[in-house]
Amino acid sequence: MTEGVDKSRRRFLTATVSVVGGAGAVAALVPFVESMLPSERAKAAGAPVEADISKLEPGQLINVEWRGKPVWIVSRTKEMLDHIKAMDDKVADPNSDISEQPEYAKNEFRSIKPEILVMIGICTHLGCSPKYRPDVAPADLGPDWLGGFFCPCHGSRYDLAGRVFKSQPAPKNMAIPPHKYIGESVILVGEDEGAA
Ligand code: FES
Repeated sequence: MTEGVDKSRRRFLTATVSVVGGAGAVAALVPFVESMLPSERAKAAGAPVEADISKLEPGQLINVEWRGKPVWIVSRTKEMLDHIKAMDDKVADPNSDISEQPEYAKNEFRSIKPEILVMIGICTHLGCSPKYRPDVAPADLGPDWLGGFFCPCHGSRYDLAGRVFKSQPAPKNMAIPPHKYIGESVILVGEDEGAA
């Protein structure tokens, strides 16, 4: 049941945050907007990308680009984490056994810190970019929808940890890239936790 859920907490946020290291601004993805890219030089080299998440608000998603791919960073609320737990029996690979993620993100919430998801925003079916849909029980996704990602290309559904639902076109969960914290609220995307 979703009665009583404060849907306003999931309202779309449009704040803008900055990426440290001169990589430029990134913009909130909800609704999808053009995002600023890291420097062309960094992209070409496939260098790790730093993201300052100090201004990331609960429920908000920001996009940074790493190696030409969208990497989404989502601040998940306690309610959102509870909703992930509630999806365990509805997702195809609840423990991410066949999905792609570093060992340190092969856990309940597919993340280093439960409240912060770092994920490659590409559908594992044919590579479309799913929509971030944190809203609960929207008319178009149905009363059982507890928030997640919806791919408009062929309808694949993912929960708020990027775990694909059962019987979807997409075969596995969205990938988690290598990443680590280099400060309380600075994430380095593209380098593994534990790497020097
Ligand atoms: S590319 Fe996402 S469902 Fe086909």
